[in-house]
Amino acid sequence: MNQTLTGKNILLIISGGIAAYKSLDLIRRLKERGAGVRCVLTGGGAQFVTPLSVAALSEEAVFQDLFSLKDESEMGHIRLSREADLLVVAPASADLMAKMAAGLANDLASTVLLATDKPVLFAPAMNTVMWDHPATKRNYRILLDDGLHAVGPGQGDLACGEVGAGRMSEPLEIVAAAENIIAGQPTGQPVAAPLKGRRAIVTSGPTYEAIDPVRYLANRSSGKQGHAIAAALAGLGAEVVLVAGPNNQPDPSRVTIRNIESAAQMLAACEAALPADIAVCAAAVADWRVAGEAEQKMKKDGSGRPPALNLVENPDILATLSQMNGGRPSLVVGFAAETEKVVDHAQSKRTRKGCDWIVANDVGTGTRVMGGDENTVHLITAADVENWPKMPKDAVATTLAKRIADHFINHFGSE
Ligand SMILES: Cc1cc2nc3c(=O)[nH]c(=O)nc-3n(C[C@H](O)[C@H](O)[C@H](O)COP(=O)(O)O)c2cc1C
Repeated sequence: MNQTLTGKNILLIISGGIAAYKSLDLIRRLKERGAGVRCVLTGGGAQFVTPLSVAALSEEAVFQDLFSLKDESEMGHIRLSREADLLVVAPASADLMAKMAAGLANDLASTVLLATDKPVLFAPAMNTVMWDHPATKRNYRILLDDGLHAVGPGQGDLACGEVGAGRMSEPLEIVAAAENIIAGQPTGQPVAAPLKGRRAIVTSGPTYEAIDPVRYLANRSSGKQGHAIAAALAGLGAEVVLVAGPNNQPDPSRVTIRNIESAAQMLAACEAALPADIAVCAAAVADWRVAGEAEQKMKKDGSGRPPALNLVENPDILATLSQMNGGRPSLVVGFAAETEKVVDHAQSKRTRKGCDWIVANDVGTGTRVMGGDENTVHLITAADVENWPKMPKDAVATTLAKRIADHFINHFGSE
């Protein structure tokens, strides 16, 4: 795990929205990166997550009450805001945004936000109609004009059951935004994004290859790694199309999702998403499909003999994108899931397929990589093999996204 936030103190303000549950994960992600995290829970926030969960995850006391004498004598609202390197408001409710825009200071969160001289990052989260309301739009604009940073909201399924804009950015997008600010991005606009203006295609998950209307061939890929990469690239400002096989991952915000089943559909969706600057092929695409999918459910015929499945090779999506004659994405990254001689096999795969980089991982029995949360990978380029330490899949994703952003800055300059 890259300790990008070591020595940094983050004051996380959790206000009253359903997305507050994601803030519990955000605390973990910030701490994993070395940050100290203190939390302020608004009255509304405490209706959605408990102070106990927040304290347990942050390993710090949770601050809730402006007029708590104990906190004022030991900590004080001014010290609370001044000791932080960055204030993060996630979720930022419509109510708290309105208070911030008006300069109110009638509870601990709003007082801390008014009393701070540190950068503030806010992640709006609310129902689409609330987000589209002219008052909220006005408050959002005021906050940006006041020099605060915003991340999100994204589009997608909202916890209230509706679909549209207002979904809080995923924890990793908020982390990436926080890292950018701490690295010294200028204030006053949505967080600066090194991949702004770049288009990326990311494939994720398994493919299902039909045998008959009810049966299919598949593999154990969960989509965790590919989805995390799509979120991380979007967090750095890329316009991302995520072509995803069947999976149970939440849709990353600010990403266009194309759900497919088979390898042939995945290739067609990738081709439809072109042109792109970046292609990351993280999906576990089935090498073979069944020739001649049965139109009706296959039945036992009483002979005791199982049916023969005739397999034919699937299209090679990584090779197709890597070897395009015109309009090839300028950076094509493949994944190699190997069970032996991981680096050797991945190096020859890179040359054979014609892609630029390969992220190789050992998925052998006992590694628990497929479906698990951690990954140990090697980044293979034409010049080098980098052995990355074991880390959570979302950390692999943010590290890879940063490497991709650096690649574009080094080759083409910043936008
Ligand atoms: C079930 C429920 C869900 C809510 N979800 C949101 C939300 O997602 N975003 C939001 O801005 N307000 C939401 N609200 C309204 C806020 O909780 C309310 O405005 C509250 O006063 C916010 O307080 P705070 O901003 O001080 O935390 C919700 C209210 C309820 C009862």
